[in-house]
Amino acid sequence: MERLLIRGGRSLEGDIRISGAKNAALPIMAATLLADGPSVIGNIPDLHDITTTMELLGRMGVRLTVDERMRVEIDPTCIDNCHAPYELVKTMRASILVLGPLLARHGEADVSLPGGCAIGTRPVNLHVEGLRALGADISVANGYIRARCRRLKGTRLVMDLVTVTGTENLMMAAVLAEGQTIIENAAREPEVVDLANCLNAMGARVSGAGTDTITIEGVERLSGTRYEVLPDRIETGTFLVAAAMTGGRVHLKNTAPYLLDAVIGKLRESGAEITVGEDWIALDMGGRRPHAVNVRTAPYPAYPTDMQAQICALNAVAEGVGMVTETVFENRFMHVLEIQRMGADVRLEGHTAISNGVERLTGAPVMATDLRASASLVLAGLVSEGDTLVDRIYHIDRGYECIEEKLAQLGADIRRMPGEIVRSHA
Ligand code: EPZ
Repeated sequence: MERLLIRGGRSLEGDIRISGAKNAALPIMAATLLADGPSVIGNIPDLHDITTTMELLGRMGVRLTVDERMRVEIDPTCIDNCHAPYELVKTMRASILVLGPLLARHGEADVSLPGGCAIGTRPVNLHVEGLRALGADISVANGYIRARCRRLKGTRLVMDLVTVTGTENLMMAAVLAEGQTIIENAAREPEVVDLANCLNAMGARVSGAGTDTITIEGVERLSGTRYEVLPDRIETGTFLVAAAMTGGRVHLKNTAPYLLDAVIGKLRESGAEITVGEDWIALDMGGRRPHAVNVRTAPYPAYPTDMQAQICALNAVAEGVGMVTETVFENRFMHVLEIQRMGADVRLEGHTAISNGVERLTGAPVMATDLRASASLVLAGLVSEGDTLVDRIYHIDRGYECIEEKLAQLGADIRRMPGEIVRSHA
């Protein structure tokens, strides 16, 4: 398996372009299944999860063409099956996002249950219960969700929990349902808003996205559209934290500052000077060491769980004691065990990581366990004495486009190493 080798000690300086948001591109690509013609989606990031989604749609008979600028044309008119197989779904849980569109447009869907993952059990019960409430006949057996319906019928859904893809799946199911659907306690993430904007561009009637109450008036049909995916706020936040940790000065282009208020607030608290424009963010740490910050993750617009591992890495080398509490997922501190091996003075108490910052970490061989944990290990490597070798970086490639190229562009000493040859013991 490929690994990333990082030689720490350099501060990040310069500017980079932020890619399109993975967590907006995935539901929007699924939403194209709802249309009775082709759509062209732009600003798609070149990530492994995107490739997996294209393979998933391709296996359904959907025709996809990708241009050199990662603009994807998706033509759902030649779909010949509504099946999402286990061998693809197990590599990407977000495959569950085809369930709502297939059911709404074709009245059927056989979608493998996504298993758990490193950060938690991550059930999809709220997706299934919501679709049943919309009139779908759903059985869950042999690891598959088997859904059938005539035409879904709008209703009022009150979500037990705030679920991002749950809100997205049910919104996509409701756009072609008969009558009105109201989703209460809906997720407010910007990616939900981006999906709603794309659905409306296709002729849907969605209002209230970005608030906790979304209203959908069902329509008879949707047409294909051209749509540009919004910038990735988590990639943006990850590079801002990297710059703050290394005392550097970066300018991030093609991003959306208004999506990161909670993250920007915490970085200013840590001592970073941050200025923003329409589509750019500049951070200047002026060579200073960050102050430790206290963070509690929660659904948007609060501090995002997808930025939790990164701020733990900052606290590991910050001045003072920082406490980070994870409230969304039950097991999202695997990075702490690895950062401890790099010399961090951090301990876990329940769902809180308490860190007493040290001046410098020491490089070590570490292993990535999930997408954002991997990113935090790369960040820790940037501020470590010596070399850090991050293994299992396929996790990173799922969510960060060309991370080593972008970091190298900012002056980091980082390179991708070929996989280790595993010698047989025969
Ligand atoms: C989305 O996952 C994101 N993925 C995740 O990003 C992100 O961490 C998460 O939202 C929270 O912001 C995509 O958008 C593709 P949830 P999702 O449903 O929708 C529980 C990354 O790093 N729950 O909002 O799967 C669940 O267990 C990834 O890019 C149920 O109990 O997350 C969790 O505790 C990681 N039953 C909580 O809700 C359900 O039916 C929030 O999960 C659904 C969710």
